[in-house]
This record gives sequence, structure tokens and C-alpha cells, in this order.
Amino acid sequence: MGNLTEALVGLNVASILRGIKHGPKRVASIAMYSAWAAKNWKPTLPADSYIPTVPLDELMKGSRVDVTITSGATTDGALEYRQALDLLSLAAYHNPDVVLEIGTFMGSTTRDFARTLPSATIHTVDLPPDYAGEATELVDGAGLKKDDFHLIEGRKVGRDYLDTPYAARIHQHFGDTAKMDFGVAAGATFFFIDGAHTYDYCRNDSEKCFELCGGKGVFLWHDCDESHPGVVQFLLEWRALGRDVVRIASSPIAYWNGL
Ligand SMILES: C[S@@+](CC[C@H](N)C(=O)[O-])C[C@H]1O[C@@H](n2cnc3c(N)ncnc32)[C@H](O)[C@@H]1O
Repeated sequence: MGNLTEALVGLNVASILRGIKHGPKRVASIAMYSAWAAKNWKPTLPADSYIPTVPLDELMKGSRVDVTITSGATTDGALEYRQALDLLSLAAYHNPDVVLEIGTFMGSTTRDFARTLPSATIHTVDLPPDYAGEATELVDGAGLKKDDFHLIEGRKVGRDYLDTPYAARIHQHFGDTAKMDFGVAAGATFFFIDGAHTYDYCRNDSEKCFELCGGKGVFLWHDCDESHPGVVQFLLEWRALGRDVVRIASSPIAYWNGL
């Protein structure tokens, strides 16, 4: 299918509204991406492919930890209360010195990491605040597919940790993870991967984190569910490599302990 045809197929109300806001170039790239996603984003997984679930208690070997959660209304795109509890419990259990979060968004999880780990350094990455990029990022001749355009447009990066006492231990990095040098987060051994949720980006982000810690780290991925087949597909590939990725029971958060 040619570019123009793909754009027409992917044209919908959401892309038109974005086009009104950001200009015709943007509407074309988003529409093309929508068309590509509709066509390609349903990986047929082998019948015996699945990611097993494990209760949080078992992952923490029955340990007890103290976690403080800010409950109440959350912005669409931020971690839900119950999921934050799972994530922060594992953070407290592993007690890392350095954390790397991919996808800061409003910064509520960033803040909660800093609060839960009182002496840790928290690195967090998001696209630049004025980002108005394309639906794909070209890296070494290959186009990496992106998603979450509605979140990118609506975010106020770090809003929830700025002006808190935790901000001093939080290092905000701006960039596209496809092109970023993850060396800025040297020493990280605990990773929360929650940026773009396409297969391409999940793979890029996970492999860069793996490289950063030499595989000796704890990895958590948000959105390991049927709405994000690219994440599931990538995690199944890691499992096929012998890495025992599991999903926390009753949660869309996946976990792998490489320590
Ligand atoms: C679902 S939100 C993250 C939510 C956050 N972790 C939380 O718990 O509240 C995804 C974030 O990833 C960012 N993002 C998307 N693509 C990215 C990329 N290629 N590089 C860096 N950040 C990206 C988006 O701007 C958005 O703020």
C-alpha cells in the first residue's frame, strides 16, 4: 500500500483532531501509523505461548515492606493505585540504589519511587515537553513504531514530583529512548519500562536497560496485556531466551529478576 493510501485508511476522528491541532504533516503520519497498526498489531502467538502469573507475595518471598501510596483520582495514563502498590512493593523489597523509569508522564510513579526508597537516585526519561515528532523514529535505517500520542500531547512531564522534597533525588532526562544514551542512568539495577508500548520500543528500551546493567537487574514492564500485543510479543521472546519473565497475578505488570 502506498503512503497516501495508508494515510487515508488510517484517517479517523482522533487523527483529524490531532491534525487540526498540530498541522497536516502530523495527521498524515498518525493516520499512516494507525493503518499499519490495524494491519500488523495482532501477532498470532503460538497456542502454548503465555506469560505465567505469580502472586506478589511469592515474588517477595513472603517479605513485608512499608509503602506509601497517594490514592485518589489519577490522570489517565498514570499508574493505577493497585498497580502502584505492586510496583512499589517490589521496589521496596529489592531496595535498589539507582532506579530507571522509562516514561515519566506526570511523575506520580517517579515521586512514589523516591518516597519509597529514601536514599535511592531515580532517573526518569520522557520525550521533550514540546515534542511533536513522527509516528516512527528512524534508527540505523529502521523505523521504530510509536504509540500513546494522546498521552504525549496531554502530559506535563514531572508535574507530580516537582515542588516536592523528593525532586532533589530525581534526575529528569528528556529524549527519545530510540536515540538516547542510557549511560545517563549508570548504576541502575531496577527498571520500570513504561514508555512507548509498541514491540519496537519495548524491545529497544528493554535491551538498552539490559545492556546498562549487564543483565544484573530487576525489570518491570507496564501494560503486559491484550491491549498491548507488542509488549506481550517482546516478553515472550525474552522468555524464549530462558529469561523467566512472569506477570504479577491480577496485574498488567510483568517482572523479571536478573539479579
Ligand atoms: C503511560 S505514560 C507513563 C506513565 C508513568 N510511568 C506513570 O507511572 O505514571 C508513557 C510516557 O512515555 C512517554 N514516551 C512515549 N514514547 C517515548 C519515547 N520514545 N521516548 C521517551 N518517552 C516516551 C510518553 O510521553 C508518556 O509520558
